[in-house]
Amino acid sequence: MSFADFHRRSIEQPEAFWAEQAQLIDWQQPFEQVCDYSRPPFVHWFAGGKTNLCHNAVDRHLKDRGDQNALIWVSTEVDKEIVYSFSELHAEVQRMAAMLLALGVGKGDRVLIYMPMIAEACFAMLACARIGAIHSVVFGGFASVSLASRIDNATPKLIVSADAGSRGGKSVPYKGLLDEAIQLAQHKPAKVLMVDRGLAPFTPVAGRDEDYAALRRQHMDTEVPCAWVDATHPSYTLYTSGTTGVPKGVQRDTGGYAVALAASMKHIFLGNPGETYFSTSDIGWVVGHSYIIYGPLIAGMATIMYEGLPIRPDAGVWWSLVEKYKVTSMFSAPTAVRVLKKQDPAYLKKYDLSSLRALFLAGEPLDEPTAKWIAEALGRPIIDNYWQTETGWPILSLCNGIEPAPSKFGSPGKAVYGYDVKLLNESTGEPVQGADEKGVVMIEGPLPPGCMQTVWQDDARFVKTYWTEAKGRWLYSTFDWGIRDKDGYYFILGRTDDVINVAGHRLGTREIEESISSHPNVAEVAVVGVADQLKGQVAMAFVIAKDASALGDSAARLKLEGDIMKVVDGQLGAVARPSRVHFVTALPKTRSGKLLRRALQAVAEGRDPGDLTTIEDPTALQQVKDLVAAR
Ligand code: PRX
Repeated sequence: MSFADFHRRSIEQPEAFWAEQAQLIDWQQPFEQVCDYSRPPFVHWFAGGKTNLCHNAVDRHLKDRGDQNALIWVSTEVDKEIVYSFSELHAEVQRMAAMLLALGVGKGDRVLIYMPMIAEACFAMLACARIGAIHSVVFGGFASVSLASRIDNATPKLIVSADAGSRGGKSVPYKGLLDEAIQLAQHKPAKVLMVDRGLAPFTPVAGRDEDYAALRRQHMDTEVPCAWVDATHPSYTLYTSGTTGVPKGVQRDTGGYAVALAASMKHIFLGNPGETYFSTSDIGWVVGHSYIIYGPLIAGMATIMYEGLPIRPDAGVWWSLVEKYKVTSMFSAPTAVRVLKKQDPAYLKKYDLSSLRALFLAGEPLDEPTAKWIAEALGRPIIDNYWQTETGWPILSLCNGIEPAPSKFGSPGKAVYGYDVKLLNESTGEPVQGADEKGVVMIEGPLPPGCMQTVWQDDARFVKTYWTEAKGRWLYSTFDWGIRDKDGYYFILGRTDDVINVAGHRLGTREIEESISSHPNVAEVAVVGVADQLKGQVAMAFVIAKDASALGDSAARLKLEGDIMKVVDGQLGAVARPSRVHFVTALPKTRSGKLLRRALQAVAEGRDPGDLTTIEDPTALQQVKDLVAAR
C-alpha cells in the first residue's frame, strides 16, 4: 500500500485502521469500541478493552525471547555495563512491583520517579505499569522548586529516587534536592524508596525513607501478576512547560499508547523483534518514555539505556555501542549531533555501523549543515521527526516502514498516519491555501491513540489550552508555526508561545522569569529564547534591578548575574539557567504594559524587531541592542 493510501485510510476509516493496528499488542479482554468521540475533544480509544503496558513490554516476550537481551544498561559515568534478558527484566520488575505493593502503592496511586539513568528507573516505571499505578517521572536535571510543584500536582504516595546521578565523572547528588523539595511541597509522600549507588552519602529520614537493596532482598522470588486495566486507565503523567508558569501534567492512557507505540516501531522506526534500539534521550523526557522504555520493549527489541556524555571517554562511545550491540535503529537529538560535529570525524569511521538502518532525530529543528554532516559521516539515512510530549509519538515523519520516501533537508517529513494536520492562518483562523504558506500547525480531533488524554486533574485547562472549536470541528494546537510544500512535506518554524527549546529541552520562559523574580534585587525580568549555534536556543534574561547601585561596575554586574544564575540553578536546575543576564533600566512594553516579547527576542538575536508603533519607550529596545552588540 502506498503511504498516501495508508494515511488516507487512517483519517477516513479510523476505526477499521486502528482496530487493525491494535492487533500488534496483547489484550486480556477485547475492546468493544475502537473510538469513542462522543464528548469531543476528549476521546476514548479501545473502550471496554483491558490490557497492561508491562505485560506487553515484558511478559509477552518471555515465551519466545526470554533469554534475549531486553535492557542493556551502559554507564560511562561509573564504568559499568549490565545486560538484562527479558526473563531477568521480568524478575527485577516483579521485585520492584512487590516493593511498591509492600509500601502501600495500589492501582491508580501516583509514584513519582526522580532518578538518574539507571536500570532501577526502568524497573520502577514498568513496575508501576504492572500494578496499575501511575508514574510521574521528573527529569533528574530539575531542582527542588520544579520538583516541589510536580510533587504537589501529582500527590504521589511514594517517590522513588537515588543518592546521586553522575555527569562527566562527577557525582550529582539528588537526595538533598529531593528532601528540600518535599519540605517545600504541601503534599508529603508517605514513603521514599532510595536506590543507594554509593555515589553521595546521605542520611535517610527515619520512618519515611526505605532502602531499595534491603527491600529487594525480601522480595527475590515474590510473584506479582500484571493488573489488567481498562484501555483508558492512565499509565503515566509527564510534566511539560507551556505559556503559564505552572507545568502541565500530560496524562497518557494505557491501551491507545501501547497500540500507538507498537505501530510506530514498525511503520516509522523500522524495528523488529530481536533487534536492538538505542535512544540517547533521558527517561525524564517523553522520548525516553516512548523510545527508551515502552516502544522498543513492546516491539520485543532490546533497548540501550545510556548514562553518560556523548563524548566521554571519547566521541566514538555511541558508535562503539552500535557496533557492539548491532543497533538497528538509533534515536537522538540535533544538539547531540552538533556536539559530535565539533569532534574529530574519524571517531565515526572507527566502528562498523552496517547494522544501523537509520538515525532518527527529533526534539528541535534539524539545521541543514548538521543533517548533511551526520548523513555523510554515518553513511546512513537520517530521519527527522516532529512531535511533542503531548502526542507521545511522531506527528510528522517519514513512514519508511510503509513506503520508503526521500528526506528533504530541513523538513521532518509528512503528516504521519492518524494525524489530520492542518495549517491555520493566524489572523483569519482559516486553513492556509496553497503551498509554502505559513500557519499554525493544528491537528483535527480526535487525536489518534497514544496522545494525551487530558491535563492531569484539569480537564478545563486541557480544553482551554489546546483546543478551538468551529462548526462542530475541534482543532488541537501544537503552538508551532509551520509551512507545507507542494509535496506535502512540512517545515517547522518555531513556537507561537513562550516556550523555548534549549538543546532539545523544552522550557517555559515564564517559569524562568518567576524564579529570577525571587532574587531580592530583581524588580522586573523578561526571558526570551535566543538562537544559538550549538544548543539551537539559549535563554537570555533582561533584568531591571531594584537597587541600581548594586550595578556600579562590571565586577558588580557580573556578581549579580552570577547570583541570579545560582538562584535558577537551585530552584529549577542548571538546565534552565539563562546563558546571560543583562541589566536594563526599562523593558520594551506596549502602552498598555504588555511585554513586546517578539520584538525583544528579535533584537536580542540582532534582527529587525518589525512594527513598533505600540511601544511605550523606544529607548528600551535601544538598550538591548547596545548590550547585544557589545558582546
Ligand atoms: O517546537 C517543537 C519542537 O519541540 C516541541 C516539543 O517538545 P517536547 O514536548 O519536549 O517533545 C519532544 C518530542 C520529540 C515542539 O512543539 N520540536 C520537536 N521536534 C521537532 C521540533 N521542532 C522542529 N523539528 C523537530 N523535528
